[in-house]
Amino acid sequence: MPIVRFLLPDGTEQALDVAVGVSLMEAARQEGIEGIVAECGGGAICGTCHVHLQKDCFDRVEPAGMTESALLQIVPDASETSRLSCQIIMSEDLADMCVRVPAVQLEL
Ligand code: FES
Repeated sequence: MPIVRFLLPDGTEQALDVAVGVSLMEAARQEGIEGIVAECGGGAICGTCHVHLQKDCFDRVEPAGMTESALLQIVPDASETSRLSCQIIMSEDLADMCVRVPAVQLEL
């Protein structure tokens, strides 16, 4: 399975095996990654699964849709490589990607 590294707000890192076809949010929730709350269950309407991608990873992911793009305008601590982890579906092309969980996610 492809591996995704989650960089956590406390500076630690957690590597997850993520099955192809599973969203990053689902994988993070299954493994109890702190800061990935996913209140809406993957509907791209809550923003509580926000992560920052490394630039090279960001360029490999399918572009955000209209709903996700709109929400990324208002999530706290957004950056140019922000994405909703519920909208990133794992594929072999995304193996070894690295995502950072914003510290502000721990306050939601
Ligand atoms: Fe709600 Fe991703 S889980 S926007």
